[in-house]
Amino acid sequence: MFKLAFASCARIQDLPLQPAWNEIRAAAPDALLLLGDNVYLDDNGHADADALAAELRQHYRRQLAEPSFAALLADLRRRGKAVLAIYDDHDFLGDDRCGADEDGALREAARAELVQAFDPVTTGAEVYRRQSFGLVDVIVLDTRFHRRRPLPIDDGADAVLGAAQWQWLQQQLRAASAPFVAVASSITLHHFADESWERYPGAFARLRGLLRARRGALLLSGDVHRNAVYDDSGVIELVSSAVARRGLVFGALRKNYGLLSFDERGVRVELRSLKVGGRFDFRIELDDWRLP
Ligand SMILES: [Fe+2]
Repeated sequence: MFKLAFASCARIQDLPLQPAWNEIRAAAPDALLLLGDNVYLDDNGHADADALAAELRQHYRRQLAEPSFAALLADLRRRGKAVLAIYDDHDFLGDDRCGADEDGALREAARAELVQAFDPVTTGAEVYRRQSFGLVDVIVLDTRFHRRRPLPIDDGADAVLGAAQWQWLQQQLRAASAPFVAVASSITLHHFADESWERYPGAFARLRGLLRARRGALLLSGDVHRNAVYDDSGVIELVSSAVARRGLVFGALRKNYGLLSFDERGVRVELRSLKVGGRFDFRIELDDWRLP
């Protein structure tokens, strides 16, 4: 049995106390996956790397000191469990910004702050990586550093990840011998909001093809401020976003997160939410790999 908790989008400025992390701690996960927008920059237009780094550091410091979050991380550390964190736009360069469009010093600074905050296992200088947990291999993608804003024409099959990360991903998927593989992407694969892999048709088709060829593969994503599940011809995406923030329109509290409990035969998927429509609880069997 292996239990993976996943979450994204925590805005400490809106929610100085974030009770969702206590619930995740109570579930005693074997690993915590933070899918990005783990903190939110106030300034979305940083042009100076030092100023960007200073602002990120201040938000990380506050988030890491939030009592429920700190207690969760301390509990995971004490039990020898993993924390896997990646950024999205708001904890990288700001709203919808992509690393390859910008001065290189900015993206380097944002990546260094993520490493400083969460001390992830890295692949050389890169923060994309694979971690094996017996039953499950978790592949964490970096969908920000090497990406450009979508173009009116297709950016080609190397878009989003860049050629080197694509090659690495293909190798990792071949090497992943665990029954299950969870591929973590900060942005959604399928189109739920402005940003998704679907805006990059060549890369979208390529990733779908890789996932489709691999029974036991799940795509985990965040970013869109709700929970959702999607099954497109056997390509299964599970979305959980807004673990600790307020709704954009009415300011309602959001407390969305996901728990995946893997065993030899399948996985129980629980997406928890204060909203009835955001709650899911079902199993996917390995020998019948589709949403029920
Ligand atoms: Fe985002």
